[in-house]
Amino acid sequence: MRDAAFPEKFYREGQHSYFDGVELEALANQYGTPLYVVSETIVRARCAKLREAFIQRYPNTRVYYASKAFQTLDMLRIVHEEGFGIDVVSGGELFAALRAGIQPANIIFHGNAKTDEELRAAVDARVGRIAIDNLEEIFRIEREASRTGTRQAILFRVTPGVDSHTHRFISTGSLDSKFGIPLEQSETERYIDALRACPHVEFLGLHFHIGSQLMENTSHLAALNIVLDFAARLSKKYGLAVRELNMGGGFGIRYLPTDRVPSISEFIDPMMAKVSEWSARENLPMPHCAIEPGRWIAGEAGITLYKVIATKVIPGIRTYVAVDGGLGDNIRPALYEACYHAEIVGTSPDAPALAVRAPQTVTIAGRYCESGDILVRDVTLPEPNPGDILALFSTGAYCFAMSSNYNRVPRPALVLLRDRSARLSVRRETYDDLLLREI
Ligand code: LLP
Repeated sequence: MRDAAFPEKFYREGQHSYFDGVELEALANQYGTPLYVVSETIVRARCAKLREAFIQRYPNTRVYYASKAFQTLDMLRIVHEEGFGIDVVSGGELFAALRAGIQPANIIFHGNAKTDEELRAAVDARVGRIAIDNLEEIFRIEREASRTGTRQAILFRVTPGVDSHTHRFISTGSLDSKFGIPLEQSETERYIDALRACPHVEFLGLHFHIGSQLMENTSHLAALNIVLDFAARLSKKYGLAVRELNMGGGFGIRYLPTDRVPSISEFIDPMMAKVSEWSARENLPMPHCAIEPGRWIAGEAGITLYKVIATKVIPGIRTYVAVDGGLGDNIRPALYEACYHAEIVGTSPDAPALAVRAPQTVTIAGRYCESGDILVRDVTLPEPNPGDILALFSTGAYCFAMSSNYNRVPRPALVLLRDRSARLSVRRETYDDLLLREI
């Protein structure tokens, strides 16, 4: 994957630009802008790559798609058809996953503050696993599972205490984190006592996730070492076998043409080597191993199309190019200082052709009433004109999923591309939709 051209499946022919074989200006004209465009072809290719690099290469392994990255019914069905389980983090994500026909046994339920209603829904649905994030949850699950007369399988989500060198808002593995169970012995003993008191709770193993958009594998491997040490301690000191080890997600993707990220095998192979060395060294059985990527599956599969509304020159300072979307459809630049690559993929009929425009360094501003609503700072484009169609790349993860109605702007439609054609997957919101919940 590493050497594939970026942006993947994007190319130009004459005046026209294509993504996954579909002409982008025509898409913008047909469905309007802003428009989320997701290549089902890329999603499926990424799933195939994960099967090849992980599931087929190592026995007794499984992939859960972290559906928080991009959850629609279509996406759930696609990933399910590709053979993956689903990671959900809320009652809403669980509801949609069940609606999409995902078998509950293939669902893992996460969250650091699961409500009673959510735990009840998860136990009632008989989800395959719940990742425990605090002590009380064990007793709360015991109550639900004893009510239904079932045993609920759980994993401990642990905090390895490793800094993941990503933006601090998306780092989760350090000691002082709201996520995960600390590994101090005194805490461990309280959790083990709780398990002993809860016969309807079945301990399967451990889970860790240290952060998102990891650009190298070292912190993930350091975390794995710590978690494996802990697993040996659980087995040897407390007789608690770790039958399953979920190593989370976080595998980085490309946002800019200059980004260099490890291939998925560069994450997976050393991880699996470590687990198998550990198993031999400690003389403990190899656990069932799982990973939980979200962004890696969806991120580079998505682009967003915008229309240029206006340009504004501030002499000697910068030129703003204002588009018809922004932080309502992509909060990531404002929230994480995320950087995106942009290109002009369509021009209005009365504007000069791209080939004759001089290159200009501009800032792409969103339409929302926030100074921080800047989509791309300093990108060089053929001088943008109102009416142009602009594409932002690698918007497939955490954009649709984190969208909002700030300023009462309806959320964009979403189309899926496959076999050189597009189909509407999520319709554009209407003004009426915006008032639906008001009494
Ligand atoms: N597993 C767990 C327990 C997680 O908390 C997450 C992400 C994942 C898996 C998937 O991580 P991924 O493979 O997608 O990196 N909104 C932020 C990212 C938040 C990630 C939250 N947890 C962003 O836009 O960068």
